[in-house]
Amino acid sequence: MIRIENLYKSYKGHKVLKGLNIEVHRGEIYGFIGHNGVGKSTTMNILAGLIGFQSGKCIINGRDSSGKGLQNKDIGYLPEDPKFYPYMNAWEYFDFIGRIGGDTGNTIKEKSTDLLERVGLSKAAKRPIGGYSRGMKQRLGLAVAMYHDPHVYLLDEPSSALDPEGRLDMVNIIEELKDHGKTVFLSTHILNDIERICDRVGIIHDGRIVVEERLDSLMAKYVQPVYDIEFAKKPGRNLADNFMKLDYVEKVDTQDNKISVTIKDLEKDSQNLLREIAGLNVFITSINLRRNSLEEIFMKVVK
Ligand SMILES: Nc1ncnc2c1ncn2[C@@H]1O[C@H](COP(=O)(O)OP(=O)(O)O)[C@@H](O)[C@H]1O
Ligand SMILES: [Mg+2]
Repeated sequence: MIRIENLYKSYKGHKVLKGLNIEVHRGEIYGFIGHNGVGKSTTMNILAGLIGFQSGKCIINGRDSSGKGLQNKDIGYLPEDPKFYPYMNAWEYFDFIGRIGGDTGNTIKEKSTDLLERVGLSKAAKRPIGGYSRGMKQRLGLAVAMYHDPHVYLLDEPSSALDPEGRLDMVNIIEELKDHGKTVFLSTHILNDIERICDRVGIIHDGRIVVEERLDSLMAKYVQPVYDIEFAKKPGRNLADNFMKLDYVEKVDTQDNKISVTIKDLEKDSQNLLREIAGLNVFITSINLRRNSLEEIFMKVVK
């Protein structure tokens, strides 16, 4: 659905993209992850056909995005910092873009009522956009991107200006888009939102994709096999020593009434360890397998 091939982009000699390759499949949510200044917005702007590049190719829905080939129906773009005429209110803004798109008053009214409802701006729709918070502008920007019901969405940091509740709403809207068969390419550095909704992620570093993988397999690969075992009361030293004697145990840490056991192989050793724990004659209040967050995985990969 989206294909970026060997893309090179520099700004006055400052090389940003150095052979970027990405393929986003129809109907998936793809998380484009990278540090600030790495070139995410640059990539988005190129995909949207707004800025030029030195070499490579960008194809969206079978059409070259650098030419005049892209249509309203192809992409919906939510820029990182969407700009509006500050004196217009949301209704007026929809009227403006609706008429440019060739819609009549009634159609515009119907579509925008529904969209404003979906992004939670119905109540604010009569107020001038100039008075909106950054989060409200982002939500309005999303509604605008949805106006022509495009196949592909480019969302640049869609949740970065939102409070936790707003972020959750945004995540729900993006999931809804996927349910409607849309393809979503989103960039972010707020990794805990992305963790929940992406099918695949690509990590960009130094102008190229360094890791591209299904989110579930990426998470599985980097699960740190540490079991935190919590006891009703502080366990004796011999308990920790016994764990340490097991040949599949890598490391044992004791803190208050908790013992953390690092095992060598998640799949092979978990069963053995759990059996060992079950055989202990002590009262255990909780056992938890610790997982790395995507944030930690990202830091590891980039380092
Ligand atoms: N119009 C521009 N002119 C010159 N340099 C730019 C321009 N836009 C972005 N850059 C530079 O390109 C790099 C990538 O920027 P950007 O794509 O905005 O990164 P990201 O969105 O990942 O934070 C940064 O070093 C930024 O300073
Ligand atoms: Mg950016």
